[in-house]
Amino acid sequence: MSNRRDFIKKTTLGTIGLGTFIVANGMNKAEAPFSSVEVKVKKKPLIISTWNHGLPANAETWKQLKAGKPTLDAIEAGMKIPEADPNVRSVGYGGYPDREGKVTLDACIMDHNSNCGSVSFLEGIMHPISVAKRVLENTPHVMLSGEGALQFALSEGFKVENLLTPEAEKDWKKWLEESKYKPVINIENHDTISMLVIDADGNLSGGCTTSGAAWKMHGRVGDSPIIGAGLFLDNEVGAAAATGLGEAVIRTAGSAMVVELMRQGKSPFEACKEITERIYEKHKNHRDMEYLQVGFIALNNKGEHGAYSLRSGFNYAICDEEKGNRMEDAKFKMTWDK
Ligand code: GLY
Repeated sequence: MSNRRDFIKKTTLGTIGLGTFIVANGMNKAEAPFSSVEVKVKKKPLIISTWNHGLPANAETWKQLKAGKPTLDAIEAGMKIPEADPNVRSVGYGGYPDREGKVTLDACIMDHNSNCGSVSFLEGIMHPISVAKRVLENTPHVMLSGEGALQFALSEGFKVENLLTPEAEKDWKKWLEESKYKPVINIENHDTISMLVIDADGNLSGGCTTSGAAWKMHGRVGDSPIIGAGLFLDNEVGAAAATGLGEAVIRTAGSAMVVELMRQGKSPFEACKEITERIYEKHKNHRDMEYLQVGFIALNNKGEHGAYSLRSGFNYAICDEEKGNRMEDAKFKMTWDK
């Protein structure tokens, strides 16, 4: 899949070599007036992902990018790591189930041409990110849900597996004793892995995958598979992804709004902060406020990144050539009331 802009980018890169590109007032060289002052912007692959489980995911995605794999393949490979990790309680295998003891999964993936694939309320498939990618590649649709998503996955050769580990089942049975629904989305239970990538061509892509809120109602879908809520990107501007209480992110079209603020000139950090504060303003008198946590990561098309969360505890993994793969704590508006 290629368009005129891809062609211009590739042609420009071809003339100046991989590793740098030249911009003038946000335009690439092919589009800039001849007399413009040229500003060299360092351009390297860069990956950012939410939470500690972003670290091994980044490492795999980085390895794949360096091996020359297509960016979406690299994102898929990276996100499969936490999906298959039984110790991650908020993603894929080992994820906490809903109130009925069923592990239901949400995921999406999006490329620089705004092609998207998404699955929601999918049961029994270890790698929902892979099914989301197949939706993008092999269907005329953006999103498949529930039984239909499962039928599609089976038709694509995926196998049904039991995703409820004994440890997650034990915790669910303990929760059943009181059955109080009070989600705490913080470092202890990790939440969604969302990943944003700027690749060697300067193109943006991203993905999200999660088992959603622990002990949710059966059928509940969070923000993570919803393009514009859990993930959004515009290759002309930047990319953003969310973590935290999906209901709050859906109500505010969170990731799309972060990208729109970057379009208006805000840095990734400023955009994440402003939308987080908007979510706070909209929810400060809401019943969800007691346990509300949201966080955003963002990456613009110059390779600048940032993050911000409503409450303390959110961190994200960053991987680039210069500094390797490391964690950074996000700045936040408030600490938890204990
Ligand atoms: N952010 C994940 C969820 O609410 O499902």
